[in-house]
Amino acid sequence: MSDGAIAELAKRRGFFSQTAEPYGGVAGLYTYGPQGAALKDNIEAAWRELFVTREGHMEISAPDVLPGAVFEASGHLETFDDAIVECPECSGSHRADHLVEDATDLEDAEALSPERIGELIADREAGCPVCGTALADQPVEKFNLMFETNIGPGSGSPGYLRPETAQGIFVDFPQFAEYARNQLPFGVAQIGDAYRNEISPRKGLLRLRALVQAELEHFFDPDRDEPPLERVADVKLPLYAADAQRTGGGVRSLTVRAAVEEGAVEPWVAYYLGRSLEWYDEIGVDMDRFRYRQHRSEELSHYAADCWDAEAEVEGDWIELTGFAYRGSYDLEKHAAGTGEEYSVFRQYEEPVTVERPTVDPDMSELGPAFGSDAAAIAAALEELVERDPDAFDDERVVVEAGGDRHEVPVEHAGFAVEEVTESGEHVPPHVVEPSFGIDRLVYTVLAHGYSEDTVDGEERAYLAVPPAVAPTTVGVLPLMDRDGLAERARTVAEQLRAAGIAVAYDDSGSIGRRYRRQDEIGTPFCVTVDYESLEEETVTVRDRDTTAQRRIRTDGLAETLRSLRDGDRSFEEL
Ligand code: GLY
Repeated sequence: MSDGAIAELAKRRGFFSQTAEPYGGVAGLYTYGPQGAALKDNIEAAWRELFVTREGHMEISAPDVLPGAVFEASGHLETFDDAIVECPECSGSHRADHLVEDATDLEDAEALSPERIGELIADREAGCPVCGTALADQPVEKFNLMFETNIGPGSGSPGYLRPETAQGIFVDFPQFAEYARNQLPFGVAQIGDAYRNEISPRKGLLRLRALVQAELEHFFDPDRDEPPLERVADVKLPLYAADAQRTGGGVRSLTVRAAVEEGAVEPWVAYYLGRSLEWYDEIGVDMDRFRYRQHRSEELSHYAADCWDAEAEVEGDWIELTGFAYRGSYDLEKHAAGTGEEYSVFRQYEEPVTVERPTVDPDMSELGPAFGSDAAAIAAALEELVERDPDAFDDERVVVEAGGDRHEVPVEHAGFAVEEVTESGEHVPPHVVEPSFGIDRLVYTVLAHGYSEDTVDGEERAYLAVPPAVAPTTVGVLPLMDRDGLAERARTVAEQLRAAGIAVAYDDSGSIGRRYRRQDEIGTPFCVTVDYESLEEETVTVRDRDTTAQRRIRTDGLAETLRSLRDGDRSFEEL
């Protein structure tokens, strides 16, 4: 495959192209054409079939814009940024960490502080990649990647385009927990757009400012719930662990069972690595160019305790397709703190239990005169302290901080007591594991891995060997020639197939050889040709894209045959 073959094919045949090209195009914004939109839809449908239907999770659809408070709580306002440096000469903005990676042998400068990145730019005399001007004296700053807007007129209600679909799930967790009848484990899935104002995106569909994510948040009780590992226990995972990356080791093939037994992968994450591996294979990712790479500690996102990326080798680089992050209870705790609401699941005990509960009942008639305007804050601090550290009330005086000062309060004025209470259950803060798929990168990978070239009848051809289930079009219907009633018969066949729910392309322009090539190039797995025998005996030929072999079959039952070929219920050889 020549450099740029996919981008060229994508534009010429309607997979994707830069948005607003008549205005010069916009970096990081791409529009899917008819083939690309169909391929993307089919990949999304395949994702939904596994992660919603087969896994039994619920799917929701939250808005793309969310209030600022959501991202203040989630940590995105504080930490969702990249290091930026601007050129004083041409005013170009650049990812400062990428300049450092180009000028040194560092692979992950993203993990460095802006100050350190600035030092390395000066040290290595890195220049502007556009005009070459030295950047040594330019400030390196953090640039938040979220697109900001106002919700409604005026600036009183800031909002942000979501940088991950996940926050739309976390923020309304209490509602979804009710739909799940407060029973863990349960999963909430969502497919939708996310937005990242990348500093200088240059990798086409691989780094977008408007991207499509398919995310699953699977909530579970870390003390009780275990994944159904038996379903995937023997699936072999190509694991490139963080340790191996540090020590120069390679990829190890371990079954899911062995990976969990060794403690190499957290069980819920391992479950999804196993489940997803078969799925990638089904949608056309080449398993010889695929691995799971663990994040090194310095590259983990602010919310993740651990993360494995599914990576595919595309055009010589390893690219991330999916992050499988262990987010623990980070997000739910943040939204609980941000709202004061309960972001947990109430777990009923089998039998009510009686427990001793330390409590306080601050005596305001004593605290008021003693502490004046700080008294209410001191009472609140005592209530918080008794839950966190009841032993602090063992002495005669207890120390709390309130109003910026430390205060000593006599324990008798705190009203400390230990009560017996009967409880019927407890609030469990669920943990969450998150398989987060980047659909655009999957589309690109399926195209790149499917792209093939061979020689047919002495002629070079390019074809897309994508699985029938995700191919944009299932069948091309072609009259052998546009005369003698062949085209009319072919149109009738096309209509019958469309009515049966099959994606059909009808094509009668140009030689039959050229028409086959056109379908091959857009990955159409089967071509139905209507020829003179078709007129006489109600048959057509069905051609297989990859082998170009043909079979003659009867027209009645054609739709059923094509459906079973598309859905993988039978193979072309079995016809
Ligand atoms: N939800 C994970 C991510 O957007 O990276």
